[in-house]
Amino acid sequence: MSVIADRKNSHLRLCAEGDVEHRSTTLLEQVRLLHEALPELSLDEVDLSTEILGKRLEAPILISGMSGGTEEAGILNRALATVAQKCGLGFGVGSQRPMLVHPETAASYRVREVAPDVLLLGNVGFVQAREAGSQVVAELAEAIDADAICIHLNAAQELVQEEGDRDFRGAVDAITRLVDELPIPVVVKETGCGLAPGTLARLRGVGVSWVDVSGAGGTSWTAVEALRGTPRQRALGEDLREWGIPTAAAIVYAKREGLGAIASGGIRSGLDAASALALGADAVSLALPMLRAYAEGGLDAALAAANRLADSLRAITLLTGSRRVSDLAKAPRVLGPELRAWLA
Ligand SMILES: Cc1cc2nc3c(=O)[nH]c(=O)nc-3n(C[C@H](O)[C@H](O)[C@H](O)COP(=O)(O)O)c2cc1C
Repeated sequence: MSVIADRKNSHLRLCAEGDVEHRSTTLLEQVRLLHEALPELSLDEVDLSTEILGKRLEAPILISGMSGGTEEAGILNRALATVAQKCGLGFGVGSQRPMLVHPETAASYRVREVAPDVLLLGNVGFVQAREAGSQVVAELAEAIDADAICIHLNAAQELVQEEGDRDFRGAVDAITRLVDELPIPVVVKETGCGLAPGTLARLRGVGVSWVDVSGAGGTSWTAVEALRGTPRQRALGEDLREWGIPTAAAIVYAKREGLGAIASGGIRSGLDAASALALGADAVSLALPMLRAYAEGGLDAALAAANRLADSLRAITLLTGSRRVSDLAKAPRVLGPELRAWLA
């Protein structure tokens, strides 16, 4: 097995079982939506559907990119893509980096057979995108029939990894070229550390129109890396465990820049999802809970987890007196002091 494949399997195992989440929160709990005791709606009138990146979703929920490159990872991709197809959600594959070196791994990312209609997001790291160039990135997306491609940013994780990248120069230029040259939308995606106002302004300035804020409060990749590797990797990973911008703040920063915003990083319940949408997110996205549901009970458990999330989001939408899920953005709310401090 190649080094990258070995690492991917080890990441999947550590995330399914290990202590890998931030101890500090997303700050989504500091969004308190006001209860509407007179909603004047019937539950079946509540409409969760939305359209993003050119595709209609039954609910504004995506399953985040996690997997690919190995046989085990391919099975997970097909199972979670099946859930997305059955529930009308979006689905992202994990980093397609292995396809650059071993084109035969493409099969582990191909999910269209089980998910012909889903919003499908490809995925590659900015370092690989910078080195491979736009043509190769376009081919990665085309090989799996993706509707858009996520370019992921993960400097904190790389710095902790013994074998990780150390040179993060040239990212903005690479993203500028991708936005100009790719035939599909580019989603710039963090991986659990969030995006700051200045970062978002630079991305907006070079023509990016969609981000996945992937903020702090959920899976911490520095915590994941602290569970493996050398003593140095373990120590640095623990030190940086809480590094990042809470998801709630990053959503507001992205909307202030006028960007389309997918909210991920610590979305664990329908209430988290509703709070993120109330802050202006266009959709939410979950990684760890879907991985864990699948690890515990296979496809049925992952399907149940997705249905539970949508059920709870539907209930909360009604309880705020909102008919459409997009109305959550106008729902009356009280913001707690810590979130207000991040937004000041
Ligand atoms: C097992 C696992 C593998 C992941 N692999 C990738 C990846 O290859 N590319 C990427 O952009 N993000 C990757 N992520 C990050 C997620 O897409 C997401 O941004 C992050 O985990 C925060 O969401 P969560 O708190 O719901 O897990 C991975 C997450 C997990 C749990």
